[in-house]
Amino acid sequence: MSAITVSPINPAKPDLGALVDNINLDNLSDTDFDALSTALYTYNVICIRNQSKCTPKAQAELTRRFDPTARSYGHGKTIDAKRSILHPDLKTIPHQPEVQVIGNGFIPAYEGLQNVTLKHPHHRTFHRTAIPEAQDLAFTRFYRWHIDAALYGDLHPPLVTSLLAVQVPRGRTQTVLYDDGSDDRLDVPLGTTAFVSGYAMFDKLSPEQRALAMTSRVEYAPHPYVWISTAKSRSDGLGMVSEGKEVPLNGLPPVDRATDIQILPMVWRNPVTGRFALQIHPAVVRKIHLRDGRVVDDLAEVRDIVHDLQRPGIAPELVYAHDWREGDLVLFNNHGVLHSVVGAFDRDEVRLFRQCNLAASRPPVGPEAVESAPVSVA
Ligand SMILES: [Fe+2]
Repeated sequence: MSAITVSPINPAKPDLGALVDNINLDNLSDTDFDALSTALYTYNVICIRNQSKCTPKAQAELTRRFDPTARSYGHGKTIDAKRSILHPDLKTIPHQPEVQVIGNGFIPAYEGLQNVTLKHPHHRTFHRTAIPEAQDLAFTRFYRWHIDAALYGDLHPPLVTSLLAVQVPRGRTQTVLYDDGSDDRLDVPLGTTAFVSGYAMFDKLSPEQRALAMTSRVEYAPHPYVWISTAKSRSDGLGMVSEGKEVPLNGLPPVDRATDIQILPMVWRNPVTGRFALQIHPAVVRKIHLRDGRVVDDLAEVRDIVHDLQRPGIAPELVYAHDWREGDLVLFNNHGVLHSVVGAFDRDEVRLFRQCNLAASRPPVGPEAVESAPVSVA
């Protein structure tokens, strides 16, 4: 039996967040790993404290243990494309290419990277509207709710992402404004990572929405992160505003194979609990394939349908905002949660994190109804 202890962080959110203690990552037996994996798929976001000594190699090996035959980084080389919206946010560790450095401020040297200036993504660069400058340190937004996934080519969405907090600025709090016509707001620690449960999001659906979600697939855009590079986000970070600003398809890099365009179930099954998560990347979804073969391809309509499905699931009481401490190693079930960068730092607030995930060895597992449905690329 494993000696690992697992303590839920939020009694009110039983499937989101647990602290894992009494674990030695340098010497993790198969029994301990099984306990860790069960904790991950039960609580979906788990944190192991005091892991500052974890090397990039050890981080990559632990992440790979959840999917031993996974090979490359979750985005492969797609983030190298200069026009990708992900390009400025991720710096690859030269000796461990599955591991990326993210953060804020100037880093003279770190793991083979020299003189890098990291920039915490700020909503003013991505949202259609922005919080006025004078209020920018007190108020903030969810930057972009997402799944970590290339959603293109043969790169399946990673099963698990690991995040290690190497350096964390001293804490203050900020208030997230949804600014979406609701009065919703949420106080969060500075630079939190916000998580919501795809399972809770699914459970919030009406019976009609649930039937749609269980039987439909979503088609993602070709070269998704280039496609939206000229468009702007809704103020709640949950998908894009439809104003025709996407890069036209003929302005994107060529699509080598029709199968490079990913069409995935809306709902993904948890391997431990059997529950279904509503897992749609709202920013880059382009079409909805219905069970009867019809395809919803009006972009504004697609986005409105997806926003209606997802918005109840990001209500303030459903968000877990992790309060980072240096040495925190957080692992999350990327097939069961959405997450978002949050917050705005001052230039001199230095933050250094390492992120690792691997393109999965298999596609997400959907409900049987969509697993057996014919695929038609429209
Ligand atoms: Fe992410």
